[in-house]
Amino acid sequence: MANIRIKNLCKHCNVGSDAVNNVNLEIGDKEFLVLVGPSGCGKSTTLRMIAGLEEISSGEIWINDRLVNDIPAKDRNIAMVFQNYALYPHMSVFENMAFGLKLRNYPKAEVEKRVHEAAEILGIKQYLDRRPRELSGGERQRVALGRAIVRKPLVFLFDEPLSNLDAKMRVQMRTEIHKLRMRLQTTFIYVTHDQTEAMTMGDRIVVMNKGIIQQCADPMTVYDHPVNKFVASFIGSPPINFMTGHIIKKGSKYFFDEGKFQVKLIDAMYPKIAAYSGQEITMGIRSEDIYDKLFASEASLENTVRATCEVVEPLGSEVYLYLGSGKHSFIARVGAHDRPEVNRDMDLVFDMSKVHFFDSKTEETII
Ligand SMILES: Nc1ncnc2c1ncn2[C@@H]1O[C@H](COP(=O)(O)OP(=O)(O)OP(=O)(O)O)[C@@H](O)[C@H]1O
Ligand SMILES: [Mg+2]
Repeated sequence: MANIRIKNLCKHCNVGSDAVNNVNLEIGDKEFLVLVGPSGCGKSTTLRMIAGLEEISSGEIWINDRLVNDIPAKDRNIAMVFQNYALYPHMSVFENMAFGLKLRNYPKAEVEKRVHEAAEILGIKQYLDRRPRELSGGERQRVALGRAIVRKPLVFLFDEPLSNLDAKMRVQMRTEIHKLRMRLQTTFIYVTHDQTEAMTMGDRIVVMNKGIIQQCADPMTVYDHPVNKFVASFIGSPPINFMTGHIIKKGSKYFFDEGKFQVKLIDAMYPKIAAYSGQEITMGIRSEDIYDKLFASEASLENTVRATCEVVEPLGSEVYLYLGSGKHSFIARVGAHDRPEVNRDMDLVFDMSKVHFFDSKTEETII
């Protein structure tokens, strides 16, 4: 079993902002934690510091009750899987998988047993005699996983292990890693820049930006209650629609006024929004919360927006509508058989119970 505690972890850079800036995390035993964020946000650096492959500038890393800051990588009982697989080209699959164990002087019989067990789990028994170049990308990735599994480590660290695979293989390997995780019952930290991988695989997601943790929570909390505009924009596909406008009060009701259209806020939002009356604000609405009025059940004048349908993109199971209204473009995700005419105006219904509002200056979530 392994718990990991990370306290005030920093990695300073000579230029610009820090690669990793005061990261604090507690990762539970058997947890699958995903670090996600855009390129350069410090995911790999964080992972490499946990592995002991990168010196830390300050802070503490604890594995169970052991402070590992000064413990070399090979003694941390951690296995890491890299994006580029890092297999030895001149060795067979068997030798690649056995290499780490031989290095640690495991008895031959134990090495054989572990490699065959791992090959069985990963479905690569028939490739044990082949060289990496004789394997597909997906098969090579399995060998890289196998090399980590045979070590029976306390913690698995994965750095974008699927990013070299094609789309179909990625989805397949995603479920394989999920099964592997159920079977191995150990702690995983998984790095990706792909929000779908993060949403589908993580018990909890850590969203990073510019070396700083923005939010750490279970996937649905991050999706439904993003702490700021960055998190809202990073998680979700197609990305959330943002619109800037003003909060206005008419009688006892509050509206979001885009300039061209107005939509009424729901009553429960009033206490938090009242302070923004008259001010500029950013509204966020996800594509699935915008309906074609023809098919909407709760349409009223106060939540309807007229927009021009610019593009209709049928995806089979659903249709994306690219719309324009006022100064904003936005996307609605509608039913598979909804095909409005292009370059015509249509009425859209906003589910106002689902919208978010962000402070235009701080970009923090208001609602
Ligand atoms: N050893 C280092 N010393 C100083 N700066 C570094 C070091 N390694 C990386 N950086 C910088 O730190 C930042 C974070 O890099 P990192 O590799 O952790 O990003 P990442 O989130 O893994 O990105 P990607 O998705 O592209 O792999 C980058 O700006 C990078 O240039
Ligand atoms: Mg990286």
